[in-house]
Amino acid sequence: MTGRPRHVAVAVAVSLAVVAALAPANLASAQAAAAQATGAQAPAQQSFEPTVGQAGKDVVWVPTPPSLLDLMLDMAQVTKDDFVMDLGSGDGRNIIAAARRGARGVGVEYNPDMVALSNRLAREAGVADKATFVQGDMYEADISKANVMAIFLLPTNMQKLLPSFKTLAPGSRIVSNTFGFENWDPDARDTVKDGECGSWCEALLWIVPADAAGTWSMDEGTLTLTQMHQVLYGSLTGANGSEQISRARMRGYDITFTAGERTYTGRLTGDVLAGTVTGQGATRTWRATRTGQ
Ligand SMILES: C[S@@+](CC[C@H](N)C(=O)[O-])C[C@H]1O[C@@H](n2cnc3c(N)ncnc32)[C@H](O)[C@@H]1O
Repeated sequence: MTGRPRHVAVAVAVSLAVVAALAPANLASAQAAAAQATGAQAPAQQSFEPTVGQAGKDVVWVPTPPSLLDLMLDMAQVTKDDFVMDLGSGDGRNIIAAARRGARGVGVEYNPDMVALSNRLAREAGVADKATFVQGDMYEADISKANVMAIFLLPTNMQKLLPSFKTLAPGSRIVSNTFGFENWDPDARDTVKDGECGSWCEALLWIVPADAAGTWSMDEGTLTLTQMHQVLYGSLTGANGSEQISRARMRGYDITFTAGERTYTGRLTGDVLAGTVTGQGATRTWRATRTGQ
């Protein structure tokens, strides 16, 4: 293995440190102490005050800074039409902030005191009709109704949840505080720039891609696509031979790729791709039908 440049080594060390900061270290003893102190499953008291770093089942509680949360919801373009979920919802801030934008949302949180706190904070914010919180395990949560996930979890949690995230409807957005998946690069990433954010300042966005893999019949020939998450690879073979496609991606149901000097954009509906192709100063429509997987 080759040596890493110093800035990469520093970045890796910082990442490991922040992962360690969220990891449920000494979880059993912390939970035992918490159970002893509060009585396990005791109903939340009005006086309950969460502590940053407090134990959680699979990840400790560290809240997303407000400025980063704003950026995450901006990147996900959350509106009143969205149904937002947070797994490991802590004090409920992600869902409450989404509800302030008019969205409905549900937070799933293992710690019942945090659930009660979240429901109280939602009432105080005047969004209890839109923001609800349930006690439960994030790995067992039904996320099928969500079209936005706004989360702050460890990479191990994210990786375990990946298969269920990939079942969300194409076009659904996943925004995460800092951490990502092993082999699914984000569609976009951005950092809080207002100077108020000391740590946890990077937001990542993924847009669940529709499945465009397969063999497609077009007027100009045969388009062959293989797909790795939102990235497409393949070729367009016609009367003049075969061209590798490049810059090929899905963004939800929307496709874009380049073949030779031509740039194709379009949208997937069932087994039909249709849109416009631009090249050599002209624009025309194109259409392709899937003939095989
Ligand atoms: C890093 S905090 C994130 C809180 C919140 N999402 C935010 O962005 O401010 C992770 C939360 O996950 C909760 N948690 C840990 N394991 C869980 C599990 N298996 N199911 C549900 N919640 C869990 C913890 O109690 C904690 O509140």
